[in-house]
Amino acid sequence: MASNRTFTMIKPDAFEAGNSGAILKMIEEAGFKIVAMKATQLSPEMAGKFYEVHKERPFYGDLCKYMSSGPIIAAILEKDNAVEDFRTLIGATNPANAAEGTIRKIFAKSIEANAVHGSDSDENAAIEGNFYFSQFERVI
Ligand code: PPS
Repeated sequence: MASNRTFTMIKPDAFEAGNSGAILKMIEEAGFKIVAMKATQLSPEMAGKFYEVHKERPFYGDLCKYMSSGPIIAAILEKDNAVEDFRTLIGATNPANAAEGTIRKIFAKSIEANAVHGSDSDENAAIEGNFYFSQFERVI
């Protein structure tokens, strides 16, 4: 059965552009409840840890540098079929390929500065949520 929670980050490009509120509005209007949220900034080391699963990929260094370049918002979201529905809402990784009306189509600047992160599986959603939030920082 699909889990009802996923994890997201509003990335440095969208935060810096002042698009966090508009993105959170789209997320809530799509039926997701925000059950944990914080603004923070990753160190390069913490970004490296978060994206360790991609460490063999050619863009790993750039991705970690970028994700630690400025503030982000991290959040856990709740909805039936959360992981899949959220990835539909955000659209393809590369905004050039993202469907009309998706968050990345509207707000992303490039494949690197692509506005938002969304977990790719229930297992990773749990790992990523636990990376940022203790049990006392989320709705039970
Ligand atoms: S996904 O979501 O895992 O299926 O996407 P994927 O295409 O595998 O990419 C994984 C993360 O790497 C980012 N990415 C890049 N960053 C910089 N440069 C390039 N070329 C690039 N290609 C992919 C992509 O935005 C994903 O980050 P997250 O935070 O998971 O969205």
